[in-house]
Amino acid sequence: MELFDVYPLYDITPVKGKGAYVFDKEGRKYLDLYGGHAVISIGHSHPAYVNAISKQVGELGFYSNSVKNPLQQELADKLEKLSGVKNYSLFLCNSGAEANENALKVASFHTGKDRVVYFEKAFHGRTSGVVAVTDNENIQAPFNQNHNATKLKFEDAEALEKELEKGDVAAVILEVIQGVGGLDEASTEFHQKTSELCKKYRSVLIADEVQSGYGRTGDFFAFQKHNIRPDIISIAKGMGNGFPIGGVLIDKAIQAKSGMLGTTFGGNHLACVAGISVLKVIEKENLLINASDLFEYVKEQAAEIPQIKKIKGRGLMIGLEFDFEIAQLRKELLYKHQIFTGAAANKKLLRILPSLNIKKEHFDELFKALKIVLK
Ligand SMILES: Cc1ncc(COP(=O)(O)O)c(C=O)c1O
Repeated sequence: MELFDVYPLYDITPVKGKGAYVFDKEGRKYLDLYGGHAVISIGHSHPAYVNAISKQVGELGFYSNSVKNPLQQELADKLEKLSGVKNYSLFLCNSGAEANENALKVASFHTGKDRVVYFEKAFHGRTSGVVAVTDNENIQAPFNQNHNATKLKFEDAEALEKELEKGDVAAVILEVIQGVGGLDEASTEFHQKTSELCKKYRSVLIADEVQSGYGRTGDFFAFQKHNIRPDIISIAKGMGNGFPIGGVLIDKAIQAKSGMLGTTFGGNHLACVAGISVLKVIEKENLLINASDLFEYVKEQAAEIPQIKKIKGRGLMIGLEFDFEIAQLRKELLYKHQIFTGAAANKKLLRILPSLNIKKEHFDELFKALKIVLK
């Protein structure tokens, strides 16, 4: 049977990973500065993670959500402690799109409303509801276009109030730092205004922290810098270091009702152990501090390269904006220097999303390669 052909593929077959590196079947070593779309948070095959998952699969890999699973509570408690956010409840699922899908559903149940406001260049996933609030018509089927969704200009508080005052908006969904869109971040003033307007007009504010959360920016959640309290926070990517797991943190003011949400696989034993192990490593290795410190180092190094016009993002969610389109540069980094990097909707932006325990010397490899390629 052939595979359904939806992914443009690099002609590379990684078979092994260790720390910041992956190795292909010929034994070639690649520096992974992209983490498979921001997923690898604690490095490939971290020994504590490998041990925890191996032990759990030997005991009990899965049972359904119809029985007690104390690992879910352990994960929720650890997440609360490390993130510092209080008075939320956790619902576990399997991916970023699913997290946002559940967030929208909860918002609609809670408010009794059905319209969702989102912003230009947003990416919230590919499933039915969330692709309707993603700013990319190419990935929306006619079925997805029937949702009640309104796109607004980025950072336009006046337009936002005009929509919210109509009274039918269940949720405003935003990425605090846009990932796929190209690392744009609205001001603290806009975040606070949005939060205030959502309260005023009884709409739910959803912070999509699928990519920017879990320590990636140096804060546990990117919204924390702006001093706001979203009603719902969606999480996924870095949460399981590659094990599929996602979740939504839901303000305790929003009442759960039996059957309101549900999933077969979400929050299973293996996924929880992967999630707990990631949080333990983030704590033990002080990875939030590492993310902040390394951003300063990257800024210094990038300043030495005249073709880099702007450094976007925070922590280890980094965009290097060049004065030319970077498709060829990325290819050369990958095939000549064995370095994985990422692209964005902004074609001049090189996206760097490495594991959170990466070191200065790994960035030295990148900047050395960049200097050669750009000579
Ligand atoms: C901000 C954001 N939200 C949601 C998603 C969707 O996550 P997933 O691919 O796990 O469904 C992504 C994926 O890139 C994302 O970057």
